[in-house]
Amino acid sequence: MTESNLSSRLYPTRIDIPSEARSKIVVLLNQTLAATLDLKTQVKQAHWNVKGTDFYQLHELFDEIAGELEEFIDLVAERVTALGGYAMGTARMAVANSILPEYPVDILAGIEHVTALADRFAPYAKHLREAIDKTNELGDADTADLYTEVSRTIDKRLWFLEAHLQGSATNGAVATAKTQQPAVAR
Ligand SMILES: [Fe+2]
Repeated sequence: MTESNLSSRLYPTRIDIPSEARSKIVVLLNQTLAATLDLKTQVKQAHWNVKGTDFYQLHELFDEIAGELEEFIDLVAERVTALGGYAMGTARMAVANSILPEYPVDILAGIEHVTALADRFAPYAKHLREAIDKTNELGDADTADLYTEVSRTIDKRLWFLEAHLQGSATNGAVATAKTQQPAVAR
C-alpha cells in the first residue's frame, strides 16, 4: 500500500461523519501528525544543543515546549483513529509527510536556535489555522476544536520565541526592512 493510500485508509466505524469527509480529515490530521512529530524532534534538538549565556533558560523553555508537542502528537494521532483512520506516526512516516524544513546543524547560540524555531513555528501555526477552517467546512466541529486548542498554544509559543528576538535592535518584526539584519553572521 502506498504512503498516500495509507494516509487516507479508513476502517469501518459507527461514527456518524460521512466517510468521504472522514477520509479528507484523516489525510489532514496525518499531515499535522507528521509536522508535529518533526517539530517536536527539532525542539529537542535545540534543547540539547543550545549554547551561550542564556543556555539554562532556553534549555528549560525548549523542553517545556517539546512536552506540549508530545501531548499534541497523541491528541492528533488518536483523533485519526477515532475517525476510523490509520495513524502515520513513525519517524520515517513523519519525514516523508512533514511540511517543515529540516533543522539547521550549523547553529549554536541561543538567538540562532530561537530564530530557527520561530521560523518553523510560524508555518506550523499557519497550517493549524487553515486546518480549523477546513475541518469546520467538512462538518467536523470536534477536530476543528482540537485544532483550535493546539493553535492557541502554538501562537502563544511563537510569541514566547519572538519575544526573545523583538528585544534586539537588529532582530524581529519591529525592525524595518532597511535595518533588518540576520540574527548572527553565518
Ligand atoms: Fe532533557
